[in-house]
Amino acid sequence: MTSSDSAPGARTFTISGDVYDRFMGRYSTKLAVPLADAAGIGPGQTLLDVGCGPGALTAELVRRVGAEHVSAVDPAPQFVEAVRGRIPGVDARVGRAEELPYPDGRFDAALAQLVLHFVSDADATAREMRRVVRPGGVVAACVWDFGGGMQMLRLFWDAALALDPAAPDEEHTRPFGRDGEIAGLFERAGLEDVERGSLEVEASYEDFDDFWTPFLSTTGPAGAYADALDDGHRARLHDELRTRVGSPEGPFTLKAKAWYAKGRA
Ligand SMILES: C[S@@+](CC[C@H](N)C(=O)[O-])C[C@H]1O[C@@H](n2cnc3c(N)ncnc32)[C@H](O)[C@@H]1O
Repeated sequence: MTSSDSAPGARTFTISGDVYDRFMGRYSTKLAVPLADAAGIGPGQTLLDVGCGPGALTAELVRRVGAEHVSAVDPAPQFVEAVRGRIPGVDARVGRAEELPYPDGRFDAALAQLVLHFVSDADATAREMRRVVRPGGVVAACVWDFGGGMQMLRLFWDAALALDPAAPDEEHTRPFGRDGEIAGLFERAGLEDVERGSLEVEASYEDFDDFWTPFLSTTGPAGAYADALDDGHRARLHDELRTRVGSPEGPFTLKAKAWYAKGRA
């Protein structure tokens, strides 16, 4: 059994790091900065990026503490290879958040950016993040506000629902996209001093094609949905989405909000 077989969430991400970057990386690269700020990440710490993908948060952690103090783990082997190639010196491993391949108390902080809604067992993940952090260390995580704050995904699912009421809107199919859900998870895991809040970023597009094309790459639940449609339905979705984005003729910018929580081990 490969790590992808045992981590269904990873099967949503069989694309390359470069393809991921054009879809979600253009947001997650920016989101890494306020998440690391919220977690109090700074020089001298030893850090773990859980569900690192191709390394958006990993790179921000390395910028703050140096590659030799950063570990990164993800069940998708091509993402782990991407991190190794992009950020030499990082200890990047294939593995699952539910069974982190590190000893107790190894890190000063463990962070998971846009991961909790994909893991098979979020409670086990939170317990594992707590286990690998030293007493008093920080566990932090964030997930998009699927209800409306993440405009790219909200626009996509609203367009999809307009044509297909059964479309699997992530607001209803994925956990942790509401305020307080991650904080509740962390409290169940025994973390202390749990705090929560929101993080806001934005991303720019050259034109509508730059926005639409990444949805055709099978990336994440939205990409998988678009990929499974027949050509006619996909063309109608394109037109519906274009209208909802405002039929832009040139560059445009969208906002994205994520809910986060942090606690102490
Ligand atoms: C939306 S991506 C986020 C990647 C990266 N953290 C970022 O911010 O760009 C979700 C990531 O969760 C990973 N993932 C899915 N199931 C997982 C699990 N059980 N344990 C750890 N990571 C998992 C996927 O492989 C993917 O890289």
